[in-house]
Amino acid sequence: MVSQLGVTGNAKSMTETQSFRLGSFPAGGVGVVFGATGGLGSALSTAIARSGRFTRLCALSRAIDPTFDLLDEESIERAARHAAAMGDIRLIIDATGFLHDASQKPEKTWRDISPETMIRALSLNTIGPALIMKHVLPLLPSSGKAVFATLSARVGSIDDNRLGGWYSYRASKAALNQIVRTAAIELKRSRTDAICVSLHPGTVDTPLSQPFARRGLQIQTPSASAAHLISVIDRLKPEDTGGFFDWRGARVPW
Ligand SMILES: NC(=O)c1ccc[n+]([C@@H]2O[C@H](COP(=O)([O-])OP(=O)(O)OC[C@H]3O[C@@H](n4cnc5c(N)ncnc54)[C@H](OP(=O)(O)O)[C@@H]3O)[C@@H](O)[C@H]2O)c1
Repeated sequence: MVSQLGVTGNAKSMTETQSFRLGSFPAGGVGVVFGATGGLGSALSTAIARSGRFTRLCALSRAIDPTFDLLDEESIERAARHAAAMGDIRLIIDATGFLHDASQKPEKTWRDISPETMIRALSLNTIGPALIMKHVLPLLPSSGKAVFATLSARVGSIDDNRLGGWYSYRASKAALNQIVRTAAIELKRSRTDAICVSLHPGTVDTPLSQPFARRGLQIQTPSASAAHLISVIDRLKPEDTGGFFDWRGARVPW
């Protein structure tokens, strides 16, 4: 197994323009972003549109018609059918996710664990993306490069957990990674060129991370992270399916 995708040059100094090519995909077809109005989702949508590689961009969110909600399977199925009606789906990015809101904060200690907050994190970060996979993976073309990538998080890595805390978010992303790996195995049986991966975007300045940004952390803008993620996706090969990669293309330990 490779530990790093083929990096052409220094990933950190790569310009955004260089990384928008997506030239490894067949020309034409459709790029799809679930969560296109989020911090990373909107930057990724812009990057895909700028690549010019696909004929159409299908941007999906709770605010764009046909709207979808992670908690409503029917709406996910409807959104997937809407994307498929636009043409061959070549790239799907799931940029949805949940860490906190006014009523829920990540747990600092096991004393903060509650069934309600845990169910909410799992519903949004694990079950929602699993339902997206259920409805979009069968729509991928039977040959030629096609990628499904979901935004996971390094804190979902069990091996890499050194700080503790954030029980629900960590567990929901670890479970998401297992679902990606499992779906990749099933996908390979019918579509040998297709790739299904989890990606860690780095620490990125979005509403999701803002309350937790600490001094000393390397924080990227959404557009910088999107440029790196697009470059990673462009370098993915069929043998990388089922993997978990960070924004530089390095494998993240499970
Ligand atoms: N930012 C970071 O530092 C960081 C680090 C590691 C991993 N990630 C991961 O990257 C992904 C994107 O995060 P972000 O930083 O871009 O956060 P964000 O700006 O808060 O975006 C979250 C997205 O999830 C969507 N979403 C939440 N609940 C939903 C629901 N019930 N139905 C449909 N969509 C829903 C939001 O939709 P609306 O636009 O409708 O609200 C939004 O598009 C997440 O999976 C996150 O865990 C982020």
